[in-house]
Amino acid sequence: MIVAGGFWGDEGKGKIIAYLALHDKPKIVARAGVGPNAGHTVYARGKKLGLRQIPCGFTYEGARLLIGPGVLVNPEIVLKEVELTGTGDRLGVDRRCTVIESLHIEQDRTSAHLKGKIGTTGTGCGPANVARVNRVAKLAEEIPELERFLTDVPQEVGDALGRDELVLIEGSQGFGLSLIHGTYPYVTSKDTSASTLAADVGVGPTKIDDVMLVFKAYVSRVGEGPFPTEMVVEEAERLGIVEYGTVTGRRRRIGAFDFELAKRSVMINGATQITITCLDRLFKGSSGLRSYGQLPADAKAFIERIEGELKVPVTLISTGKDPENVIDLRSEKL
Ligand code: IMP
Ligand code: MG
Repeated sequence: MIVAGGFWGDEGKGKIIAYLALHDKPKIVARAGVGPNAGHTVYARGKKLGLRQIPCGFTYEGARLLIGPGVLVNPEIVLKEVELTGTGDRLGVDRRCTVIESLHIEQDRTSAHLKGKIGTTGTGCGPANVARVNRVAKLAEEIPELERFLTDVPQEVGDALGRDELVLIEGSQGFGLSLIHGTYPYVTSKDTSASTLAADVGVGPTKIDDVMLVFKAYVSRVGEGPFPTEMVVEEAERLGIVEYGTVTGRRRRIGAFDFELAKRSVMINGATQITITCLDRLFKGSSGLRSYGQLPADAKAFIERIEGELKVPVTLISTGKDPENVIDLRSEKL
């Protein structure tokens, strides 16, 4: 199963992946997506973690954790998060991952175009991907500190799928930030749709059985670019849905659920299931609930409208920060 973001990132993928890992017990959780520009929030070990490289599925201790060759790595952040999560014995980093160097970070942070106009995260991802395209990038296999983690991720994933084992592919960013399908030039430095997430870890399209597309009950966007359903700051404050970025700490722009963007996202990602997150933040009385029947009528009507318009079942609904605050409808709907 691939877990992909449906809007502009920060849909709550981290928490949902933690839930799926704990309940479905995958043999492998493999991180896909751009790189450490993403911050996946997960509450684990009694702490709030904003993971940028290690898969959030680390919360299930039985899973091997992999970072696919398509993902950019910043060795410093990898090592810091290994320590934070205590996962050094089960992490694998693909030899071919592109390494982000300090020069890339400096370029990203000092460029008037990238930092100023586009509003990048300043984590060096764009310049590192440019280095890869120019075929001058350093690879993970050249970094001594990463030596003990190096592996062949596509081979490991392929072998697991050959044994019919469950593999969870953890996407990052969101559909609207795709270099190909998003709001160019206000996008990240790579495609972020499910097809590329599969390629990031080396899985062919015929091997993917499920694409779980994650939408937040409202939309947020950090950085510049078009945002058709954006609301004024006061409205977000009134609704109590103000947010700040995990990586950059920037205040996120907030808007209403965008049905048109969601439809296109469903189509291009080939979604087979939908998760709606942060329902508790939009609908009073839904906090922490674990059964659909207990939801207030307005929350149910919202979920039904999403299913009606997108024509894909909403199988998971997140009602709080804890990985267990989930309404899981998979056994009823699939
Ligand atoms: P970059 O990926 O750092 O080059 O930034 C390009 C755009 O993508 C900026 O608008 C960033 O705010 C946005 N972006 C990149 N990664 C994420 C993410 O994980 N969540 C939300 N926005 C992101
Ligand atoms: Mg995030």
